Amino acid sequence: MNFVHFKLINSTNTYARENALKLPLPCLITADGQTNGRGRRGKSFYSPDGTGLYMTLLFSPEKPLSLLTPTAAVCVCEALERFGIYGTGIKWVNDIFLNSKKICGILCERFFENGTEFISVGIGINLTTDRFPSELQIAGSVKKNLPKEELSRLIAENILHAVADMPEEKIVRKYEERLFFLGKEIEYQRNGVCFTARAIGINNECNLRVLLPDGSEDILSSGEISIKI
Ligand code: BTN
Repeated sequence: MNFVHFKLINSTNTYARENALKLPLPCLITADGQTNGRGRRGKSFYSPDGTGLYMTLLFSPEKPLSLLTPTAAVCVCEALERFGIYGTGIKWVNDIFLNSKKICGILCERFFENGTEFISVGIGINLTTDRFPSELQIAGSVKKNLPKEELSRLIAENILHAVADMPEEKIVRKYEERLFFLGKEIEYQRNGVCFTARAIGINNECNLRVLLPDGSEDILSSGEISIKI
């Protein structure tokens, strides 16, 4: 694996995309801070200097990857455990929570340059960030200054191993074990309509299975859910 580190950059995912053809792959890009950290659905990711781990793993896949985001989420949780952080849970699809706070977000992007397929797995972990913008009520941090270089390497290596070798059933099982809201009521929107349902599990593609009040089942393949407390 190759490494590139920045003190400050706009976004490690943006850098990966703009330099994919030049970088030796697989490549782990890290930064101490980001000025324009990107999240899913066009949101930004708060990335203050020095208090978080901001990384992008860039590689060219050898086979089609269907479970990339769940794989990355499981790898982050397992790597954190190796550093003594227990009790992480995954909020479908790919937010990682600890003590009821979102401590990590994952943004996977797939793109093509000159006919070559690239994948970037962007991961942001709040390590010691203690103040967040007021709109990020749900954000929290690990509250430990973990060694960023070792942690990012371990996560990247785990992801590369998992996408190459781990059977899909195993990823699905590990992912489901970490979902912390199964059995609970959730809300989601479809075509502008709001539904309340009970999350009951996932299928082989890690889509979320929910039970509606009329007893019918629905399958969510993307989008945001909110968990009713
Ligand atoms: C989310 O919570 O919606 C996903 C957040 C992903 C943030 C990481 S930080 C490193 C990488 N660079 C980015 O601009 N985004 C990802």
